[in-house]
Amino acid sequence: MAKRIISTEVSEEDRRIEANLRPQRLSEYTGQKKLTEHLKIYIEAAKVRGESLDHVLLYGPPGLGKTTLAGIVANELGVHMKVTSGPAIEKPGEIAAVLNGLQEGDVLFIDEIHRLNRQVEEVLYPAMEDYAIDIMLGKDANARSIRLDLPHFTLVGATTRYGLLSAPLRDRFGIVEKMDFYTPAELAEIVTRSAKVMQVSIDETGAYEIARRSRGTPRLANRLLKRVRDFAQVKYNGEITREVADFALDILNVDKMGLDHNDRAYLDMIIGKFEGGPVGLETLAAALGEDAGTLEDVYEPYLLMNGLVNRTPRGRVATGAAFSHLGYEKETES
Ligand SMILES: Nc1ncnc2c1ncn2[C@@H]1O[C@H](COP(=O)(O)OP(=O)(O)OP(=O)(O)O)[C@@H](O)[C@H]1O
Ligand SMILES: [Mg+2]
Repeated sequence: MAKRIISTEVSEEDRRIEANLRPQRLSEYTGQKKLTEHLKIYIEAAKVRGESLDHVLLYGPPGLGKTTLAGIVANELGVHMKVTSGPAIEKPGEIAAVLNGLQEGDVLFIDEIHRLNRQVEEVLYPAMEDYAIDIMLGKDANARSIRLDLPHFTLVGATTRYGLLSAPLRDRFGIVEKMDFYTPAELAEIVTRSAKVMQVSIDETGAYEIARRSRGTPRLANRLLKRVRDFAQVKYNGEITREVADFALDILNVDKMGLDHNDRAYLDMIIGKFEGGPVGLETLAAALGEDAGTLEDVYEPYLLMNGLVNRTPRGRVATGAAFSHLGYEKETES
């Protein structure tokens, strides 16, 4: 499928702008109210006791602020953060080296933690539980293991695929929090803040228009803001208003609900070809030339949240809202 402007996966360009736009403290972090309230209490308590914070697992769709939040946790605790990721650590020795390099109280952030392999995970278990690692010395009959103490540290794990995390690993996190999509009002606040950092002028209606087309995702809101800014500078007087945002986002093919041509192709397929469903995930994926996992993790969460599609035991069903959003008449049974 075509490259999507509304992809919530991180791109090179995002990486460049995100560094500046990332909030550094809890007080600058918009949204995820429940989660941030919890974290604030846990962090304060850990500081009062002079202990390391319990291990934290953050899960949810891409671009909602997991990496950002990990950095904030370290800042609030006043400790260093080491960053790595599931696919980056291949051998038990590598994770042992990372753990051994930590200082008392540090945060170790492991992104895409569901992609750690079994042997690496097994090093993590005692590290998380007892702040120790077991190292094997010698071979065969002479093999013995010695236990090496580690500093107390906080593991912050992030994943977009909670279901793929092994149960023993999941169980070792004291704090498990789910990230939710942001409301348009929250995103408008984020857009306004980002515009200030980028020194772009934007009015409330412009921020709101970008917000409601950003499918609940700050990363996307920031990306759309950048694109709209280009239009504002070239075609208008530089200020982002609702008119500019509308104009730019229509050209970029992101509709009023934040759907792009791929989302519409998905809904169109269910409605046009399968009479609104139910249609099995695999069948739908084959018809679209996509893999089922991508449909499930990337396309569907936002469509589900907006009530455009339902998952039923017999397959996917397009809702009345999807019919009318795409301009179809919903056929009534006669
Ligand atoms: N609550 C927030 N307030 C303001 N900006 C935010 C917030 N959450 C995320 N952002 C912005 O969105 C961008 C993406 O966030 P981040 O990289 O933390 O997402 P992520 O959940 O780690 O994504 P991925 O799953 O792809 O790793 C950040 O650069 C940041 O600027
Ligand atoms: Mg991330």
